[in-house]
Amino acid sequence: MRSDRMDLQGDALTDAVVASFDGSKDERTKTVMSALVRHLHAFAREVNLTEAEYFTGIDFLTRTGQISTETRQEFVLLADVLGLSMLTVGLGNPSTSGATESTVFGPFFVEGSPGVELGADIANGAPGQPCLVSGRVLTTKGEPIAGALVETWQADEDGFYDVQKETDGPQNRAHLTTDADGNYSFWAVKPVAYPIPDDGPVGELLRAGGRGPMRPAHIHFMVTAPGYARLITHVFAQGDQYLESDAVFGVKDSLIAEFTEHPAGTTAPDGSTAPDGSTAPDGKTPDKPYYSVSYDLVLASEETQQ
Ligand code: BEZ
Ligand code: FE
Repeated sequence: MRSDRMDLQGDALTDAVVASFDGSKDERTKTVMSALVRHLHAFAREVNLTEAEYFTGIDFLTRTGQISTETRQEFVLLADVLGLSMLTVGLGNPSTSGATESTVFGPFFVEGSPGVELGADIANGAPGQPCLVSGRVLTTKGEPIAGALVETWQADEDGFYDVQKETDGPQNRAHLTTDADGNYSFWAVKPVAYPIPDDGPVGELLRAGGRGPMRPAHIHFMVTAPGYARLITHVFAQGDQYLESDAVFGVKDSLIAEFTEHPAGTTAPDGSTAPDGSTAPDGKTPDKPYYSVSYDLVLASEETQQ
């Protein structure tokens, strides 16, 4: 005689798999796994998943794992292009009135960036037009936060992060600490739009969906200060042609800022020098056109984010 267990199919199969997690020691594991199983089964039923499609999916995930390394985070990219990263960002960072909005972390943050002084050149020879990036770190009441830790990273003019190429030390990547008035500033290069890595399974998926890989030009920030919720965000360049079609759905209107072009020979907004090694002796007349952007980063207090 065959047992009932051998005949499981349809809803009974789903119920049995859900029930198989009943013994989880951790209640959250049980909640998450039972929802995952129910939604996964509902998905297969909805599309009437064929066995051929099932094996295509398994092969896709296998190759996503095989191409992944410490610096090539294909699963992060997959979550990003499916909008799961931004959905999780939204769930984990309820908007606090007046605080800067969060966006996707991305795969190119590196622990242990160089610590630099305010106003430093962090481009370190990366190709691109000089760009002075400045602003203040503030509370939602507009008060300066002194001693906030500002981590920043961005791509160069060719659309590459330093970790995607051979470089002599970090480029366009550093951390700095705000002064008593909450100011931060550094020279990097003007960011440009760039494609997310699309030579792997995620690129295939984008092409299969008739989608593009481009992200609009942006600078990454991660800001921390005791007593405040950690902020992970970008500042996007106004006017970029990809603002409406970001491959990872990360754009928010409030994060778009104007990058102002300055002709050569004009004093930088903060009176500092362009870091191209060719400035006049008075240090205030960059002889190459440059950009500046100013953006205040506003932190929610830890309590309001709980
Ligand atoms: C980034 O902005 O660095 C990024 C975010 C998501 C996917 C790929 C790159
Ligand atoms: Fe980026």
